[in-house]
Amino acid sequence: MDVPQHQRFKLLGLSGSLRKASNSSAILRTLRDNLTPDIAMEIVALDDIPPFNEDHDTGDGPAPVATLRRAVRACDGIVIVSPEYNHGIPGHLKNAIDWASRPGYDGPLKNKPIKIMTIASSPLGGARAQAWLQEVFSSTLSRVVPGKQVIIGAVESKMKDGKLAHEDTLIFALNSIDEMLDEACLVQGRAKRVIPDAWKRRKLDKPPR
Ligand SMILES: Cc1cc2nc3c(=O)[nH]c(=O)nc-3n(C[C@H](O)[C@H](O)[C@H](O)COP(=O)(O)O)c2cc1C
Repeated sequence: MDVPQHQRFKLLGLSGSLRKASNSSAILRTLRDNLTPDIAMEIVALDDIPPFNEDHDTGDGPAPVATLRRAVRACDGIVIVSPEYNHGIPGHLKNAIDWASRPGYDGPLKNKPIKIMTIASSPLGGARAQAWLQEVFSSTLSRVVPGKQVIIGAVESKMKDGKLAHEDTLIFALNSIDEMLDEACLVQGRAKRVIPDAWKRRKLDKPPR
């Protein structure tokens, strides 16, 4: 189905893990590949973002930072899939958020809808990193989408062939992206998004196990 330009949405996907075989990155790619035709997701790798240094924050910053900031500005919302490291946020993800947060209280993240998804091998699914990320984004004046939290525990058991294969979890995560786009429409004063019946996914009335 052809989607008119004014009904399209652009998402930015960020992974909280840099390793090649990352489950977080694989889940992000699975989400991207299963979005409805009105949504496109660009995944920007954070590998080359240097450590934040205010002395180097001139203009749009070092080249990888400028790319990140441009992508943040251009998107309708950000999807983050991240592991928990030592009960908190992976350092490079916090670092990227710090770059994208400047100038303080008026950076590209201001008013940006954010969907946080956390993963872990443990059954806790990175719940502590989820809470940390919410706290961090409250300082950047971003709009973390309220409602059900996407927390994926025992992640390895839900992956197959480099994809998120657990259908209930995939639908739950995709539905949460739909909720984020409702928030994006509110922020932008756009008409509420209408999802044609042909694109509708099964709704879960409770989070998957
Ligand atoms: C440095 C480090 C710290 C970790 N700390 C935690 C933790 O605090 N809680 C947890 O549930 N898992 C923890 N893990 C396990 C990760 O959640 C798990 O390895 C996850 O799959 C990594 O994500 P990735 O596959 O996207 O790289 C840690 C892993 C590493 C490498």
